[in-house]
Amino acid sequence: MELMEDFSRPPLVPVKGIPLIKYFAEAIGPLQNLTVWPDDLLISTYPKSGTTWMSEILDMIYQDGKLEKCRRAPIYARVPFLEFRCPGVPSGLESLEETPAPRLIKTHLPLSLLPQSLLDQKIKVIYVARNPKDVAVSYYNFYNMAKVHPDPGTWESFLENFMDGKVSYGSWFQHVKEWWGLTHTHPVLYLFYEDMKEHPEILSILQNPKREIKKVLEFLGRSLPEETVDFIVYHTSFKKMKENPMTNYTTIPSEIMDHGVSPFMRKGTTGDWKNTFTVAQNERFDAHYAKTMKGCNLKFRCICKCICICILGIKAS
Ligand code: A3P
Repeated sequence: MELMEDFSRPPLVPVKGIPLIKYFAEAIGPLQNLTVWPDDLLISTYPKSGTTWMSEILDMIYQDGKLEKCRRAPIYARVPFLEFRCPGVPSGLESLEETPAPRLIKTHLPLSLLPQSLLDQKIKVIYVARNPKDVAVSYYNFYNMAKVHPDPGTWESFLENFMDGKVSYGSWFQHVKEWWGLTHTHPVLYLFYEDMKEHPEILSILQNPKREIKKVLEFLGRSLPEETVDFIVYHTSFKKMKENPMTNYTTIPSEIMDHGVSPFMRKGTTGDWKNTFTVAQNERFDAHYAKTMKGCNLKFRCICKCICICILGIKAS
């Protein structure tokens, strides 16, 4: 009973000025003593940017494409979530201690809250960024279904909070910029959801999911046969991951994640923001984006159904 009461949408708690889910805020102190191993790999993202997708790709790579091995446990057990804490469930730190090397570790933390040991030991990082409009829409739906978040309120008010960094993990703008900055001094492979999403059937010339997976392999210093890479592309498609209980989060009790409100594997597309943003919201967002990202050479794109390049400037070089 106490467990259920605790889940009832507690307000965010600021840690060093960053609003966090209450339980995660409580994990930050103990995390600072984290012991890292040289072959740890950190998957870092702002929430709703393709973390689960990249986690599954990486586990498949680590298991040499062996599907039965990837079915050994749900994704959140195979790839511990560093700052995760929730009453009655093993914390991220506890899960990590049970995980054999080489470990994959997921985090959404901004740099100011990251355990220093990860930076000191220059642990390899794969960062995935996604265009902020799709992130905002995905995050709004996630807030609604995942009850560890406060009530998101209306879409209109959530969008305002998102732009102001008053959502869990703070500002998307700050997050993507500071991790981009880290690429200059640390081993960080910075990838984009939109690049991963381009599907061979839509844009046969680019073969992007495969191209991005090959970038990951190169970064890790690993190689796999061509047919294994094709197999990984296939099994990490949205359709396959949506129907796979080991990746779709349906193993989480509905008191915590209510898939009836919105499934975790919701749409998995680019440009879905157009179905939610009003024209006025879009203009306001663009103006805010231009101001906040001024001077940053990070560029986002979104491929819509007709394969036109749109929003927020053109592709990162
Ligand atoms: P939508 O809500 O827009 O559908 P995260 O794992 O970081 O929480 O991100 C979740 C988002 O990634 C959701 O976006 C989800 O549908 C999408 N996603 C998950 N797996 C995917 C896949 N294999 N291909 C494309 N999108 C995927």
